[in-house]
Amino acid sequence: MIIARTKVELKDTLKNLSNRPGKLALIPTMGNLHDGHLSLIKLAKLKSSKTITTIFINPLQFGNNEDFDKYPKTHELDIEKLEKEQCDVLFMPVNKDEVFPPPGKIKNIDSGMLGRDLCGKIRPGHFDGVLTVVNRMFELINPDIAIFGAKDYQQQILIKKMAKSLYPNLELLTAPIIRSQSGLALSSRNNYLSEQELKLASSLYKSLQQSVISYNNKINTEEIIKDAQKFLKSKNLIFDYFELRDSQLNTVKDSNFTGKKVFLASATINKTRLIDNIEF
Ligand code: PAF
Repeated sequence: MIIARTKVELKDTLKNLSNRPGKLALIPTMGNLHDGHLSLIKLAKLKSSKTITTIFINPLQFGNNEDFDKYPKTHELDIEKLEKEQCDVLFMPVNKDEVFPPPGKIKNIDSGMLGRDLCGKIRPGHFDGVLTVVNRMFELINPDIAIFGAKDYQQQILIKKMAKSLYPNLELLTAPIIRSQSGLALSSRNNYLSEQELKLASSLYKSLQQSVISYNNKINTEEIIKDAQKFLKSKNLIFDYFELRDSQLNTVKDSNFTGKKVFLASATINKTRLIDNIEF
């Protein structure tokens, strides 16, 4: 695997790679790679002949009171894992100047109303930061395919919306959520939790599963959400939101709506915010 640490190294590497036939798939990450990330790389290998992973902890998507400084960094282990998956290129910029132009010249992307809803209500500016860095990675790498995880449901919808207008030829793929045995969706932030907290955290998925069962049994959505809230509270999870939306994240107003739906939830345990969802 070739590791590019600067924009110039990236450009040279991509130029050499362009001599090889086939599609280039990009997997953007912030590192601390777990089986969820590795599933994205496996999917990339199935769909393309060249893969590039990025590891960059993007300062623009963290609020002032968030975990930018303590976000887990496990670069050596990450490199080992990527080599095992036979990823072709890793772009792991030495600093943010290797990603962004000087302040004032950065092309900021506005995530719009949807970017200020759900997680965006709790993390103002977060999705503008995500879209700004993802757009920048698309500009620098010009992939044919880009792959994101379904755990960050709102993120992948917003990226799809952005790409539809800015990169109409780019194919965006969403890979299924990978869970631990307890059902907890894998996330780098799970590293912040103790054994006991990890057990409690799996209640988030249980509440989503129960909600789908209740919905299919024609229980009223308001009641389902109240029950989920009560259950999460009993497990010491502080409820942020729990909502039923359609697959584009519009509110589902009609109880007879037959299209694809998703229950989305966010809850905090000992200052660590967890998100999860089930599409059905
Ligand atoms: O999902 C993530 O890890 C990040 O939000 C992303 C897409 C790599 C952008 O920094």
